[in-house]
Amino acid sequence: MAKHNNNLFFMVALLSSIIAASKIVAVSEFTVPPQPEPGFYKAMRKCFKKISAECAESVVDAVLEDQDMSKKCCVELVHKMGRICHEHLLWFLASHSKSGVNATHVFIRGPEVYNSCVLKLHQ
Ligand SMILES: *[C@@H]1O[C@H](CO)[C@@H](O)[C@H](O)[C@H]1NC(C)=O
Repeated sequence: MAKHNNNLFFMVALLSSIIAASKIVAVSEFTVPPQPEPGFYKAMRKCFKKISAECAESVVDAVLEDQDMSKKCCVELVHKMGRICHEHLLWFLASHSKSGVNATHVFIRGPEVYNSCVLKLHQ
């Protein structure tokens, strides 16, 4: 579990650096993987400008640590960030499998997180 929390911490730090800077920097043992297509990180930065840092962290937490999301962050995820941006984030998280992130888990849990938010908004 400690390893997991450590991952979460660095992932959030790495994400923040991607969101904040136009230049991608590596944080600790996490290296930034090459983009799957040109403009990917630029698109990702745009995605994360749409939601609060608190909710961006909450989405990462929900995917990696199986946490629940608040209705407030679900609203941001579904209505501000949207599914395409969520898929970008999942790819980004899964690309860190060498650093101990379980990619299989990310691709199973990721869509669950999004769908449970959609349900939550209709309650
Ligand atoms: C990765 O996640 C999958 C799906 O949740 C799980 O079945 C598998 O045991 C996990 N692997 C590790 C090494 O934790």
